Amino acid sequence: MQPRTYHVITFGCQMNVHDSAWLGAALEARGFAPAELADAEVVVINTCSVREKPEQKVMSALGRVRQATGGDARVLVAVAGCVAQQLGAELFDRSPQVRLVAGSDGLTEAPGAIERLLKEPDARLALCAFTEAFPEKEAAPRRSAGPSAHVTIMQGCDNFCAYCIVPFTRGRQKSRATCAILEECRQRLAEGAVEITLLGQNVNAFGRDRTGDGTSFFRLLEQVVALPGLKRLRYVTPHPKDMGPEDVAAFGGLPTLCPRLHLPLQAGSDAVLRRMRRRYDSAGFLRLVEELRAARPDLALSTDLIVGFPGETEEDFQATLDMMEACGFMSSFSFCYSDRPGAAATRFPDKVPQEVQHERLQRLQALQDRLGQRWLDARVGGETTLLMEGKSPRQEAAPAQDEAGALHDEDWQGRDPYGVPVHVPLSAGVDHTGSLIPVTIVGAKRHSLVGRVVPASR
Ligand code: SAH
Ligand code: SF4
Ligand code: F3S
Repeated sequence: MQPRTYHVITFGCQMNVHDSAWLGAALEARGFAPAELADAEVVVINTCSVREKPEQKVMSALGRVRQATGGDARVLVAVAGCVAQQLGAELFDRSPQVRLVAGSDGLTEAPGAIERLLKEPDARLALCAFTEAFPEKEAAPRRSAGPSAHVTIMQGCDNFCAYCIVPFTRGRQKSRATCAILEECRQRLAEGAVEITLLGQNVNAFGRDRTGDGTSFFRLLEQVVALPGLKRLRYVTPHPKDMGPEDVAAFGGLPTLCPRLHLPLQAGSDAVLRRMRRRYDSAGFLRLVEELRAARPDLALSTDLIVGFPGETEEDFQATLDMMEACGFMSSFSFCYSDRPGAAATRFPDKVPQEVQHERLQRLQALQDRLGQRWLDARVGGETTLLMEGKSPRQEAAPAQDEAGALHDEDWQGRDPYGVPVHVPLSAGVDHTGSLIPVTIVGAKRHSLVGRVVPASR
């Protein structure tokens, strides 16, 4: 164990990944250094409870920590995130090393709490209360100043979809103050980011809650795109029922808003959508997709899908497959339904047997593979612009010089405006990270594309 070191283990969504990055940065600002699990003085497990077996995952992570640290009582283990919010002080009983439990809003206080607990080896602290206001976190410089940054615009969710635990673990929706969002965006751009992704559980409902400051989501987008230095803007996650005409028109009117939208459909059958409490039907969703494509004809759509929701028949499931075809999703995340404590669907009858769920999931994923490949194949021959992220992982290990000492091109990875990774050979000996490079797509792989630089002479 090395004093003033930390290690973070992260499960779950982009919010959690982002929160973990912030916590790391906040600890580093206090003089902590990142370390391997076996060497760390502070270990944080940032947890997720959205799908199956979250508690078992936390228990096995705690087991791994105990094993790697030899159960050293000087090691301070913190459990944060959605399982921490759910179980609270109960987590102290799961492992003697756990001395901090920090729920969704409590995470903001975690850096200070960690300092305090290191000074008081017998103390334990549970920070699980929900705050009234958006829990504003202290500013911390980004550690890896890559070209792409995430900025949180809200916390929690008011939708209570029948299957979902998020409104219970993240609490009710709280919008962040517009000035704080813009300030963080400015800071990220000043640090070298050129792409910003706005984060929230239901971003289109931004401002529509007690802590809103009168700015709508669309007005927020307008203000963010006006920031000097921003080249690309994205956001996750929208809710179909809250996408208003201005949000749709933004895809045609705001040039830096990327032509990619992750729009969760969840199911294609109207009966299932009603029981899920999604508050749109398949016709409404298709109309929205049509309007979006009218605003931005090249818009790429991806989605989330649940199979085997209680009462889902083979016919209902077929409706989901039909909707996937009709919308032409370029990718999707798909899951078997599972009961979540507190969520309404837990009490619904007609649970779908696991074998049926798995069989449906496989059929759905096979269709998605075909739709995804068709979308990628159709890109071949087209031109696009890549935001360069770094050398391809394979290239990292390869020498940039041949035996005679001559530099040859290196394989780099960038993302096109649709968010797809594209591999492209670029001149060696130059750091292309953060550059925008025009390419022609010359090939499609399973989940990525291959490009060639468009010659500057044209
Ligand atoms: N706020 C986002 C994401 C919520 S959680 C949204 O509204 O879409 C991410 C995804 O997990 C959901 O979109 C849903 O597809 C899936 N999910 C949530 N609860 C689930 C459950 N009980 N069983 C299976 N999948 C679930
Ligand atoms: Fe969960 Fe629905 Fe809220 Fe998404 S919109 S976080 S699925 S309750
Ligand atoms: Fe998981 Fe909580 Fe995110 S339940 S998906 S970490 S909001």
